[in-house]
Amino acid sequence: MKILAFAGSNSKNSINKQLLNYTLGQLENTEIDLVDINDFEMPIYSIDRQLESGFPQLAEDFYKKIKEADGLVISLAEHNGNFTVALKNILDWVSRIEMPYLKDKKILLLSTSPGSYGGGNVMEVGLKYFGMFASGEIVASATFPFFNDNFQNNEIVNDELKNTILEKITTFKNSLSEIEA
Ligand SMILES: Cc1cc2nc3c(=O)[nH]c(=O)nc-3n(C[C@H](O)[C@H](O)[C@H](O)COP(=O)(O)O)c2cc1C
Repeated sequence: MKILAFAGSNSKNSINKQLLNYTLGQLENTEIDLVDINDFEMPIYSIDRQLESGFPQLAEDFYKKIKEADGLVISLAEHNGNFTVALKNILDWVSRIEMPYLKDKKILLLSTSPGSYGGGNVMEVGLKYFGMFASGEIVASATFPFFNDNFQNNEIVNDELKNTILEKITTFKNSLSEIEA
C-alpha cells in the first residue's frame, strides 16, 4: 500500500503538518510519500500560461505521485474559510492534466486550526472538492479544534479527540486493507 501525504500549508511551523505527522506515525506497514507543498510552488495557474507553455514539470510530478498512490492523507489549513493559495494553485494545475483525478483513491481528510471550529470551513470545502469534484473516496474525515491546547509534545492530550482521530485512522487503514484483500 502506498500513501501520498501532505498538509495544505506552506508554513514552516504548520500545525497541520504536525497533525499529519502524528497521523502518519499510526500507519504501520505502509509506504508513505510525505510531500511538502513548498516543493511544488509554481506560477499561479492561468489558462494563458497553460496554452503558451504547457504544464510545469512540478504539476506533472505531483499528478504522478497521486496516480502512484492507493490512498491519500491530507490535513487542510484554513485561510479565510478556504484552501491556502499554495495548495489551491497545485490542485488547479493538476486538475487541468486530468479531472477528476482522484477516482479509486481512498482519502483520510483532516483539518486543524487554533480556534474552536478546527478548520471546519475548509473541511466543508475539502469534502466537496476532494469528494465530489475530484471524485476521491473520502473514507474518514475529522476536524481538530484548539490545536495548541489539544496537541502537546507530539501527542494529542485531549482523550476524546485522540479517540476520534485514532478511530478515523483505523477506518482509513481498514479501507486500504480492502484493496489488498
Ligand atoms: C491569511 C490567513 C487566513 C486565515 N483564515 C482563517 C480562517 O478563516 N479560519 C480559521 O480558523 N483560521 C484562519 N487562519 C488561522 C489559521 O488557521 C492558522 O494560521 C493555522 O496555523 C494555519 O494552519 P497551518 O499552521 O497548518 O498553516 C488564517 C491564517 C491566515 C494566515
